[in-house]
Amino acid sequence: MNDKTALLARRERLLGKNMSTFYLDPVHLVKAEGVWLWDADGKRYLDCYNNVPHVGHCHPRVVEAICKQASMLNTHTRYLHEGILDYVEKLTATFHESLDTAILTCTGSEANDIALRMAQAVTGKTGVIATDRTYHGNTAAVSQLSTRMPPVGGYGGHVRHVPAPDGYRPLGGEPGEAFTNAWAQAIEEAIASLQASPHGFSALIIDPFFANEGFPELPDGFLKKAADLVRKAGGLLICDEVQPGFGRTGTHMWGHQRAGIVPDVVTLGKPMGNGHPIGGVVASSDTLNAFRKAFRYFNTFGGNPVSCAAASAVLDVLTDELLMENARVVGEYARDGLSRLAEKHDLIGNVRGSGLFFGAELVLDQKTREPATNLATTVINEMRQRGVLMGKLGIHQNATKIRPPMPFSQDNADLMLQTLDDVLAGL
Ligand SMILES: Cc1ncc(COP(=O)(O)O)c(C=O)c1O
Repeated sequence: MNDKTALLARRERLLGKNMSTFYLDPVHLVKAEGVWLWDADGKRYLDCYNNVPHVGHCHPRVVEAICKQASMLNTHTRYLHEGILDYVEKLTATFHESLDTAILTCTGSEANDIALRMAQAVTGKTGVIATDRTYHGNTAAVSQLSTRMPPVGGYGGHVRHVPAPDGYRPLGGEPGEAFTNAWAQAIEEAIASLQASPHGFSALIIDPFFANEGFPELPDGFLKKAADLVRKAGGLLICDEVQPGFGRTGTHMWGHQRAGIVPDVVTLGKPMGNGHPIGGVVASSDTLNAFRKAFRYFNTFGGNPVSCAAASAVLDVLTDELLMENARVVGEYARDGLSRLAEKHDLIGNVRGSGLFFGAELVLDQKTREPATNLATTVINEMRQRGVLMGKLGIHQNATKIRPPMPFSQDNADLMLQTLDDVLAGL
């Protein structure tokens, strides 16, 4: 039995069965720096997957900020501390002026849980609309939104799912206005259905980049129409920025800004602390005060001084190292490279994305666009064997998910593209 087999057996014994690992041959990582990871045998991997170490694995400024604050004081938000105030000031300065207050949490799931309750507090209703291929986290309330694994006992009746937008196979049959109208109509029907139920309509929750749904290409104004319907019906628009936030899409700090909408509530997580567990909810002071009035809320670890120091350092590095601009330039370069691979390999049906969140949808047939889901699994496993880590996602689980740390360079993109070319040629 080699070390990895023993480690897997120990993991299963101590952590239980059915705990997933990435890749058929799981990776045993021991250290990281920037965009690189090393396994226990000293093999180096290019990280094209992990968005949590947003400004690069083990960034020295984030590490130093954590160490410095941890050696001084770490406690909770019932004591006064400038750290959380300085951070929330810096964070909310990147949003529309109406979004000027925040609650800090430890995870994105908690942030979405709060967002749903904010909508309840403001509207007095509980009905929620989400897409049918989404994931917003793991609390009991938020799990009700996900269709990946139906909740034990079934859905609560207060959730309506609308089709996940798919620009490659658009509702309404064509990618422009008909698609926008068809999706808006689905929202309108879901609102009407909730309004006719005892739950009423409280909110539409979306990731404005629809990352888990496969980051579809959407027509201009696509979300504006839906947002208008939500407002007209008295509901709140919640934007989950756990994936597209903090400049990842290259053109805007936040996915909703890229989509041209202003949400009522924004939720944050993953990249916020570069791996240190911190999430958050940003809203107007009216919305936040309504929540605090309706729900007594305290989070022991959320917003502690060490988390705020980590998150603050992330924002500083993002600005000082011009990482959003890097995401735009390198993302464009890498997507162009992927499009060139599409001319060579029939398996690539559609290349899309923005900044350093992009990928290719793999299909068995360019005409019918039949998803090549199993081949996508083969591709990411072959990439892993050759030292490049990426994932797959989307409605049909056939889109490569390339979402590296933000300092990803053109040389890194070349290595990823060359390896992908070799893998596709060898299929
Ligand atoms: C869009 C989105 N929202 C929320 C979450 C949940 O975040 P966390 O795992 O920090 O609770 C995830 C996690 O993958 C996510 O992808």
